[in-house]
Amino acid sequence: MTFRERLRALPTFPRPGLPALDTDAAPPTPHELFVTWIDQAIDAGLLAPHAATLSTADAAGHVHARTLLLKDVTVDGWWFASQSTSPKGRDLAVNPHAALTFLWPELGRQVKVTGTAASAGPEAGRADFLARSDLSRATSLVDRQSEPLDSMEEYERAFAEALRIVTADPELAGVHWTAYVLAPTAVEFWQAPDDGPQTRLLYRAEADGWATGLLWP
Ligand SMILES: Cc1cc2nc3c(=O)[nH]c(=O)nc-3n(C[C@H](O)[C@H](O)[C@H](O)COP(=O)(O)O)c2cc1C
Repeated sequence: MTFRERLRALPTFPRPGLPALDTDAAPPTPHELFVTWIDQAIDAGLLAPHAATLSTADAAGHVHARTLLLKDVTVDGWWFASQSTSPKGRDLAVNPHAALTFLWPELGRQVKVTGTAASAGPEAGRADFLARSDLSRATSLVDRQSEPLDSMEEYERAFAEALRIVTADPELAGVHWTAYVLAPTAVEFWQAPDDGPQTRLLYRAEADGWATGLLWP
């Protein structure tokens, strides 16, 4: 079998047994439907259902994407955290337009959240930092995310020093660790068919609330 044939033969979703998206019963906001869907992904025991692809673009329009973890969903939007000095942080500083894409293959589901992301302020960043484990706080305190690294030994030295500092002072927060909120302008829910067509439901932000509509598969 060629590589191309192996890829073509791969299954994408477990069928039968996929849930359905009842668009007539959709809640008034995408926040509610998203929380229902991620709750179902958590209850189904999916690995890292809170992992999403964050897409950003710099001032020249060059696009960058990476995985990160969802921290919360509130009326303000979808929360994540990272270093403001990282490439994603630099992208967002010059161009707040961003998208978060979630994929839950075992449930045949994808959610695309599109909008603008901004820092939720220093207190929110500090609270997120302090809620992290010692190891995660030390990783963040090193604060050179995505810079070229000469050797793992160099990193291990910097990490050991950061771990010593964060364990000695549990109230210390990294200055560049930032809680971001992506305020959505559109959220699309995509459901793979168990039997029948794909279902795509788009929520669009309007002046007086959320409008919903179907999309062609
Ligand atoms: C499952 C998973 C979760 C991750 N969670 C985060 C996160 O919450 N915050 C973060 O800054 N990086 C996270 N990362 C690392 C990012 O994918 C990325 O490597 C890093 O943030 C640098 O991205 P940038 O160079 O595009 O700014 C995660 C990676 C994986 C695979």
